Amino acid sequence: AGFFTYDPGFMSTASCNSRITYIDGEQGILLYRGYPIEQLATKASFLEVAYLLLYGELPAKKELVSFERLIMRHTMLNENLKNFLNGFHYDAHPMAMLMGVVGSLSAFYHDSLSVNDPRHREIAAHRLIAKIPTIAAAAYKHSIGEPIIYPRNDLRYCANFLRMMFATPCEDYKPTLIAEKAMNLLFILHADHEQNASTSTVRLAGSSGANPFACIAAGIASLWGPAHGGANEAVLDMLLEIGDVSNVPKYIEKAKDKDDPFRLMGFGHRVYKNYDPRAKIIREVCHQVLDELADINNPLFELAMKLEEIALNDEYFVERKLYPNVDFYSGIIYQALGIPRNMFTVMFAVARTVGWVSHWLEMMDDPNNRIGRPRQIYRGPGQRDYLPLSKR
Ligand code: CMC
Repeated sequence: AGFFTYDPGFMSTASCNSRITYIDGEQGILLYRGYPIEQLATKASFLEVAYLLLYGELPAKKELVSFERLIMRHTMLNENLKNFLNGFHYDAHPMAMLMGVVGSLSAFYHDSLSVNDPRHREIAAHRLIAKIPTIAAAAYKHSIGEPIIYPRNDLRYCANFLRMMFATPCEDYKPTLIAEKAMNLLFILHADHEQNASTSTVRLAGSSGANPFACIAAGIASLWGPAHGGANEAVLDMLLEIGDVSNVPKYIEKAKDKDDPFRLMGFGHRVYKNYDPRAKIIREVCHQVLDELADINNPLFELAMKLEEIALNDEYFVERKLYPNVDFYSGIIYQALGIPRNMFTVMFAVARTVGWVSHWLEMMDDPNNRIGRPRQIYRGPGQRDYLPLSKR
């Protein structure tokens, strides 16, 4: 027996100490290891930010070069993983494939992994960051029936990823600078976000001593939901459903109706009650990218702008402090880059892997780490006796 604090959704529970990411939801501030997201997003490369999140400091030039080499030399997948991937039906959702294949890395690399050895943990972290783009692109290729494109380790992280997505054995692919820059920025914005649902899932799974590949697969499962990482795909679905600017008011009413499960996807955030600083950055980039890709007349973008304008002036949304979040815009950019809708959440997972492994490493190093084991308020029946079937 015992009385515990009831805190559904962990609205007021700090589950750990962390030195990685700071969020001030009222002020709309997001810092990675103390550095404002606005500076990192516009000035750094994704692997530079990955180094920062993993090790706590920005790398010096030499450190960055050797980190990039270290990551890129782990990009290949065991050839047998192809058989595993081929077992999926052609129309399997790429998130389902990603979750399965990442989990299956346990079977390939677990034997050499002792989670109690910091060196082993670090290698596992590098392998995950290196291999997840290869797996994501392979899942996409499988879904369109094209052969897998092997990684090229002389390319930068985002360029290599785009090439694995869009090259074919018949024709190589070189991303435009704007596409690579946009992806770099989106990946940085999604790299970490302290104790969100998927990161907390990774920590909880890892708290039992489970291997990191299994823990990251658990994180991917949690990310997939539409209230979390699945929102970027759901935003595009919603915009397509709304279809035309003239339908926006009707959908705003639907979102306000408590008897209707419909919510404005890409709106609202558990922590940000002022604005999402990532959304502010991405909104500007959205304009630039669409402009440069000559896609500024994209009707979905126009629709999104209208929706945003009406919602931001509506009492319901103002009162509840519901603002567009990062994923209100990310899908529109991904779409302009030619990335299909069912890959949006996969892109989020690739970027967030850096955050997940950083948190897993931090937790494994924390002397206060113990198995995560919440309690409950029991509301079921009191003790009673079993009745034989004939008496029920
Ligand atoms: N559309 C309409 N009403 C909303 C919305 C929305 N998108 N979001 C929240 N509300 C209402 C909600 O109905 C509630 O109203 P009331 O107080 O009258 O009952 C109030 O606002 C508070 O909402 P909540 O559900 O208690 O807030 P939460 O902190 O539990 O949920 C959220 C946060 C992000 C899950 C939610 O806002 C939501 O479902 N948004 C849409 C999905 C989405 O865009 N998710 C991506 C989040 S950002 C990327 C990431 O980090 O994963």
